[in-house]
Amino acid sequence: MQYDVIIIGAGAAGLMCAAIAGQRGRSVLVLDHANKAGKKILMSGGGRCNFTNYYVEPDRYLCHNTHFCKSALSRYTQWDFIGLVEKHGIPYHEKQLGELFCDNKASDILEMLLSECDQAGAKVQLNTSVDAIHSLETESGGYKLNTTQGEYTCESLVVASGGLSIPTLGASGFGYQVAEQFNLKTYKTRAGLVPFTITNQLKDVCIALSGSSCEVIMECNGQSFRGNMLFTHRGLSGPAVLQISSYWQAGQPLTINLLPDIDLAQVLRETQHERPKLSLKKFIAQWLTQKMSEQLVELFLSDLVKTTDVFKAEQPQTLAELNAEQMDAIAHQFNAWQLVPSGTEGYRTAEVTLGGIDTDEVSSKTMMSKNQQGLYFIGEVLDVTGHLGGFNFQWAWASGWAAAQYV
Ligand code: FDA
Repeated sequence: MQYDVIIIGAGAAGLMCAAIAGQRGRSVLVLDHANKAGKKILMSGGGRCNFTNYYVEPDRYLCHNTHFCKSALSRYTQWDFIGLVEKHGIPYHEKQLGELFCDNKASDILEMLLSECDQAGAKVQLNTSVDAIHSLETESGGYKLNTTQGEYTCESLVVASGGLSIPTLGASGFGYQVAEQFNLKTYKTRAGLVPFTITNQLKDVCIALSGSSCEVIMECNGQSFRGNMLFTHRGLSGPAVLQISSYWQAGQPLTINLLPDIDLAQVLRETQHERPKLSLKKFIAQWLTQKMSEQLVELFLSDLVKTTDVFKAEQPQTLAELNAEQMDAIAHQFNAWQLVPSGTEGYRTAEVTLGGIDTDEVSSKTMMSKNQQGLYFIGEVLDVTGHLGGFNFQWAWASGWAAAQYV
């Protein structure tokens, strides 16, 4: 069968591209090896799909070429996608920080995309794996695909097969193999927006505090994020943790401010003067839960006993027992806790894949390979990764839309 456009991957980017290309009058076939389209859309945003963000800016994306995403993001904006959502009468709301979620279910977004594809005559074919891609040596170019459902040819081939995160949802390294076949450079991939694991002596504290959370500022490699941090049985999760994980490299320390609105050294001095008999644990419990205060005070004091001369073996019980140096040391632990995660939970739970196809290989206007006529890459398979908050879907919509203008 011959099509103008074949898109590999019926995810966010692929479906958007299919609908828009179909509207342009192109004959479009979308192939996916999964038994259902848009599985990640259905899982996203806790089942409510955080489909975009009011504050989309290029600096919310990680990419080796920081300029690459600007063109597509400016041509298909969050307002365009919101317009589409409103056209379909899908109720939505802003949760926080510009993050837009469906009021009802993520399936509203998937059904919207599938209905746009349907109306535009774009066909979505599931349960189809692509075994081989051949570029046609004819004058007009094009591609021939051998698939588990037969042979197809097309003028334009769009790779929208996503990244490696959550293999159980159909993720595969297919796009990177296509890049290799056509000699396109890729950046090493790693899991992003992913919880940290802790396997050292801190693990017991994580287990004891599992389910507890607090607002923190997390810093690493010159980036910082304010948001919730959640202790889990395996380590740390929560929005601030996921955000910073995309900037973290194995072995590096994180700096965590557990009391971001408080200059603890100063407040400790003031309180020591006013309430000298107050225990350190009760003092900290003004801002953190009793359980967190107890666990963290014990952890920090035992660390300070082991690693500095500031504390003797016996630990102070009341604020009156603390000298200036000890107050500074405790304050430093709470306001700038240095923690080295053991690793991350990896692609099993990561929301995104960092790295991927080098954007220098692709036109930022058309998403077409600069060297391989008619071969396009869109969405997460490219080396473009958004922050948490709807930015990754906005990239999928924008890059899919951009390619759809030219396929
Ligand atoms: P996507 O992964 O959506 O689609 C790729 C498609 O290609 C899949 O259908 C897959 O089956 C198919 N495919 C793969 N290999 C293939 C092969 N060999 N042959 C044929 N088909 C193949 N982002 C956001 O902005 N807001 C949010 O709320 C969330 N929430 C969220 C939750 C969870 C649990 C995850 C894992 C991810 C998110 N994300 C998110 C990230 C977001 O889902 C992601 O960035 C986009 O889905 C990427 O869109 P793509 O179309 O590029 O890939």
